[in-house]
Amino acid sequence: MKEIQITTPIQVYKADELPEEDRELVDIAKQMTLTSYSPYSHFQVGAALRLRDGQIFKGSNQENAAYPVGLCAERTAFFAAGANAPKVPPVSIAIAAQTGGKFSETPIAPCGSCRQALLEAEVRFQQHIRIVLYGTESIWVARSVRDLLPLTFDGSQLP
Ligand code: THU
Repeated sequence: MKEIQITTPIQVYKADELPEEDRELVDIAKQMTLTSYSPYSHFQVGAALRLRDGQIFKGSNQENAAYPVGLCAERTAFFAAGANAPKVPPVSIAIAAQTGGKFSETPIAPCGSCRQALLEAEVRFQQHIRIVLYGTESIWVARSVRDLLPLTFDGSQLP
């Protein structure tokens, strides 16, 4: 038996250090928290997805009384992009969340299902997606979905 280590490189920024393009995306993600429909969790998540041609698709979490029917902010934005600009690769996504009128101090990370959904685009377009996770204390940036989902399952494993 041997053990392997898998490391996850994360860039940690203070708000005033963030590159302009990321800052713009974070601002939109923060605004989008206000469109969240989250009467059950009261956890308002916003996402902004930039495509290679500059288009930005926006999303927020949309809940339902039948809980599993609801959808996360990231996939709301991602699927809107897939439906409206199917041939344009996504290049970056910013995510922000607030509850009780306060943005989270620690960066909000996408759930496993959203990571898997985003991975599909990385595989499909052979293009890394930069993931910008907003927190009031620090902003974390991963350069690829694979950094947040290191042991991936994708279509290449299917017969
Ligand atoms: N949620 C997101 O929108 N994105 C995440 O990355 C984590 C969770 C939503 C789903 C649900 O509406 C609420 O947050 C609580 O889980």
